[in-house]
Amino acid sequence: MADQSVEAPDGHVSHGVRTVRWEASSDGPVVVLLDQRRLPVEEVELVCTDVPALVEAIRTLAVRGAPVLGIVGAYGVALAAARGYDVTEAANLLAQARPTAVNLGYGVRRAAGAYDAALAAGGGAEQAAGVALAEARALHREDAEASSRMAAHGLALLEELLPGGGFRVLTHCNTGALVSGGAGTALAVAVWAHHKGQLRRLWVDETRPLLQGARLTAYEAARAGMAYTLLTDNAAGSLFAAGEVDAVLIGADRIAADGSVANKVGSYPLAVLAKYHHVPFIVVAPSTTVDLATPDGAAIEIEQRPAHEVTMVPHPGASAGGRGAAASAPLAPVGTQAYNPAFDVTPPDLVTAIVTEEGAVAPVTAAGLAELVGRSQPD
Ligand code: MRU
Repeated sequence: MADQSVEAPDGHVSHGVRTVRWEASSDGPVVVLLDQRRLPVEEVELVCTDVPALVEAIRTLAVRGAPVLGIVGAYGVALAAARGYDVTEAANLLAQARPTAVNLGYGVRRAAGAYDAALAAGGGAEQAAGVALAEARALHREDAEASSRMAAHGLALLEELLPGGGFRVLTHCNTGALVSGGAGTALAVAVWAHHKGQLRRLWVDETRPLLQGARLTAYEAARAGMAYTLLTDNAAGSLFAAGEVDAVLIGADRIAADGSVANKVGSYPLAVLAKYHHVPFIVVAPSTTVDLATPDGAAIEIEQRPAHEVTMVPHPGASAGGRGAAASAPLAPVGTQAYNPAFDVTPPDLVTAIVTEEGAVAPVTAAGLAELVGRSQPD
């Protein structure tokens, strides 16, 4: 597929993916999402007119990935305000839609805080709704900017760790434009390496059970014209053993104060493999994903997902939702129980570096992390 990268007006490379946007339709404002459950089979937009529709979209992974969950949470608050719904109730519903990605609550709190402050300052509900929307838009913009800066810092780090270029990078889940206002987090680094002619191969873990790697990262890699190869998650070990991986790049849903990283289940085994094979394991995330209020990995709530995601073949068009289960084929005997955590936690001593828009911390220590994000984190 030809390279479909576009330079957005604000200078951010997005390879043409529009993950989320606010639209003022004749029937009132709506939040429009690219429905990620339907990718790569079809590009269908999901028009959300109210907060329950957004909550359903978040729970069923029509929209997913930490940074964009924050953006959608903020737009959700703005939507509730603009349509005259109870903003506090809407904020609670949105913030609780998924527990692990810290960005969701952050985005919701930012827009709701701006709304409350405008009301308290004597503005009417309409003016406060405008303020909430402006805050959501600001977060959207900031995330795009953070994306570009993470890509630059991440690439500089790769060049330092692996002089000579020609990187073969392994990634897990999806961390590109589909999770961001810009080009993403870990995948953005690989995309920039590709644009600089430095990427030899992108190894894409399929990412069971919901196949974010196969469905979404491969989709983005193809659009960007990258050289990529898909593998089953359990093939990663033999790939390392064959000396085919120069670096692992992953994102994060929440980074605790001690540098523990919660990310898509399957990240921790990759970190163990990387350590054994002396391969850098690099986490790329905006500073909004660092949660200094969570002391360590044990304090991170890990989302548990339904058994059918493991016991049934994901059904195109409803692969992440409950409704699709009945229509898809069984992979295991009826009634089989499944262990299906959405995320796992990688301890800091397995992480070579954490890259944010502010730079990189390596080795990963609580003090180094606090210093790195201290400049950009909200109080
Ligand atoms: O369950 P998902 O698809 O929302 O999980 C997403 C991930 O685990 C990503 O790796 C993470 O959000 C980082 S994206 C910047």
